[in-house]
Amino acid sequence: MAQRRPERWATRIGVILAVAGSAVGLGNFLRFPTQVAVYGGGAFMIPYFCALLFLGLPLMWIEWTLGRYGGGLGRHSLPGIYHVVTGRRWAKYLGVLGIYIPFVIVVYYTYVESWTLGYGVYSALGKFSGFSTKEQMAHALGSYLGTAGDAVWTPTLAVLFLAITLALNFLVVRRGISGGIEKLSRFAMPLLFLMAVALVVRVLTLRDVGVATPAQGLDFLWRPDFSRLGDARVWLAAAGQIFFTLSLGLGAIITYASYLRKDDDVALAGLTSASLNEFAEVILGGSLAIPAAVVFFGTVGTMKLAETGSSVQLGFFAMPLIFQQIPLGNFFGMLWFLLLFFAGITSSVSLLQPLLAFFQDEFGWTRHRATAVLLAMTVVCLVPVVGLMKFGFLDEMDFWSNNILLPLGALVEALVFVGLIGMKRGWEELTRGAQIRLPGAVRYLMYLSAVYLTALFGVWIYQQAVPKLTLQGVAAEARPYVLTCRVMLAALLILMLVKVRVAWQRQRAGYVTPPTPESE
Ligand code: TRP
Repeated sequence: MAQRRPERWATRIGVILAVAGSAVGLGNFLRFPTQVAVYGGGAFMIPYFCALLFLGLPLMWIEWTLGRYGGGLGRHSLPGIYHVVTGRRWAKYLGVLGIYIPFVIVVYYTYVESWTLGYGVYSALGKFSGFSTKEQMAHALGSYLGTAGDAVWTPTLAVLFLAITLALNFLVVRRGISGGIEKLSRFAMPLLFLMAVALVVRVLTLRDVGVATPAQGLDFLWRPDFSRLGDARVWLAAAGQIFFTLSLGLGAIITYASYLRKDDDVALAGLTSASLNEFAEVILGGSLAIPAAVVFFGTVGTMKLAETGSSVQLGFFAMPLIFQQIPLGNFFGMLWFLLLFFAGITSSVSLLQPLLAFFQDEFGWTRHRATAVLLAMTVVCLVPVVGLMKFGFLDEMDFWSNNILLPLGALVEALVFVGLIGMKRGWEELTRGAQIRLPGAVRYLMYLSAVYLTALFGVWIYQQAVPKLTLQGVAAEARPYVLTCRVMLAALLILMLVKVRVAWQRQRAGYVTPPTPESE
């Protein structure tokens, strides 16, 4: 079989923007401000920055390092990477998390992403003109998603926007790393920052509308409540947010980094991509949704919105209503949803790539064939997500992936790095070609991150597993569907494990030539 030519990033800024694109998502603009408002305002930033330093950055470096290391040995998805970098055959089964988790997430993530596209178009067309209450907005979303009626299967316009979103995503990944993902990131990320800045300027210069000023909004969001710092839940929430916002724990960044060259810098690149995300989160994300909501609904109204913890309320109800009350509101509404859509698509392509890489490396498929199979798998799994929306199918997938699978994936990464690869070799890999000198203490941060994660994971399981497994708080009529969702998730995991097994069997039998280390 002909030697496969490995794909590569064409430029350094391209890979950094692609990783930042994965990290900057709905979490930056909706989840972060909500968490700040709920967990102590400005004081939340203390546990937040601790988590960034002790958990976020070390894991970011671990992911970039693991990725480049595995890529140098010819592998681009976690099963293959864990196998070759640890030299242990069983490690490939741990790596199944790196294809399973991104697939589970991408299935429902693309659906939410498609709502932002739909809502962007609706805003541009002035469809929300004259809407003034939350109830109207809730009804609009309900009828858009088909959850307001009685029928279980209600194909709506939402399906059309979903089809467009899927088509765009798969067209991008079909064109490969430098031809697709890198081009998208280099175009979408600068535009995303521009749109966010424009919206921030608009929100902070609101005058003579609503019931409060933008300054009061900023004050509400950032006023520190130091008494909250003694509450363990605040520290957990901060760690969870850091983790989520940096897209850690599922192998997306590892796969991206595997397309670097052997001596490309990872130390500075990891730091830069994390910094871009933090800028988008703390500076831009902190100046948009919550201050705007305070201007129009006052602090009490905003508090009520934030307390539900629901991104949908803030993003899809409050923001379009707010824009209805200012000049050029339809335009700004469109800008808001376009911002979310760009944030979404640069994230969802990073979720598709790990499985594509797996098919290409381990089954020897072409990129086009891998894309076609993945598209088919995604569409099949989307059917219940769309059809059973009102029974909480999507929320259920979201719960398992964010609260259980992501911390588990990250814990495994940290343990593989410090335990199986070992700090000596790991440190050499991290610092080779580095354009900044990392202090030696970063080594201890990496150990610490493994400990931090173990504790975090333990508490999460302890607090949430029992009520969740016993279906507490789930309406009786929704139970069969929630259970169906769990069965589907379990079946997918088994399917992925079987795929890993079959791939290696075929390689051993000589049907497929495994990728070889590059000889550059
Ligand atoms: N980081 C994304 C955000 O802030 C969400 C996210 C978590 C994500 N894990 C991911 C996106 C993996 C893409 C890939 O919204």
